[in-house]
Amino acid sequence: PDIYCVFGNPIAHSRSPAIHAAFAASTGEDLLYTARLAPVDGFAAAVAAFVAEGGRGANVTVPFKEEAFRLCDELTPRAARAGAVNTLSFVAGRILGDNTDGAGLVADIAGNLGFALSGRRILLLGAGGAARGVIEPLLAGAPAALSIANRSADKAEALAAAFSDIAAVDAGNFAKMAGKSFDLVINATSASLSGDSLPLPPGIFAPGALAYDMMYGKGETPFLKLAREQGAARCADGLGMLVGQAAEAFAVWRGVRPATGPVLAMLRAALS
Ligand code: ATR
Repeated sequence: PDIYCVFGNPIAHSRSPAIHAAFAASTGEDLLYTARLAPVDGFAAAVAAFVAEGGRGANVTVPFKEEAFRLCDELTPRAARAGAVNTLSFVAGRILGDNTDGAGLVADIAGNLGFALSGRRILLLGAGGAARGVIEPLLAGAPAALSIANRSADKAEALAAAFSDIAAVDAGNFAKMAGKSFDLVINATSASLSGDSLPLPPGIFAPGALAYDMMYGKGETPFLKLAREQGAARCADGLGMLVGQAAEAFAVWRGVRPATGPVLAMLRAALS
């Protein structure tokens, strides 16, 4: 079989091997996908070793996406925009970098959840790598407006400036969003990892609004709990984005797009 893997640190709990095994089975593609722990200071060496073993491609997760971006010989436009790479292809001695995170998010929101982005007011929370990776795909959905709120306003403003050739993006700290309301609010912060709650101004959820957390876990995430309490009509966690980015990576490598519904159902069942 052709071999693929995911690099991360930590990586033991990655769902990617199970997801890609299911995709391979459903599409009849002959591939083997494993999880590989790379030392924090040894990502490039780990990639080189995998290429030497005949690896055809790899996914990249925390904390290596920016380093993967710098390692690539060639980038897709969406990876160049994202400033981060989650999908590597090893072709004829060259490393090609792509980023499928934004496509996975949009496929989940617009596809699985049936929430069209066109004409919607979107608020993106966070201005780190996770936020940056999804801005271009969100703007491609032709929303009415995109705002970025971040704990440190300067990072949100810098991010908005980086996309100003595509659209005017409003940016600031959380308090700056007071008095506005949004149809879609996406959490791309890592606040819940430190157990912190986000200072969402009241009233930001418009009637019918969808709250989307790029995080997921057993049970309701802290952001989705807060969103529900503040009146979000619909809530979704990031499990669908995880499966969506994997499906997009699989399509990049194999030229076949696997169905995501059954795999998402399998992961959801394993979480409950
Ligand atoms: P990632 O790759 O997950 O985006 P990152 O680049 O370190 O990681 O970005 C983390 C994001 O979560 C940032 O937007 C960060 O806000 P700051 O830019 O102000 O640091 C946000 N974040 C992390 N912890 C947070 C907290 N406790 N409250 C609010 N925002 C938080």
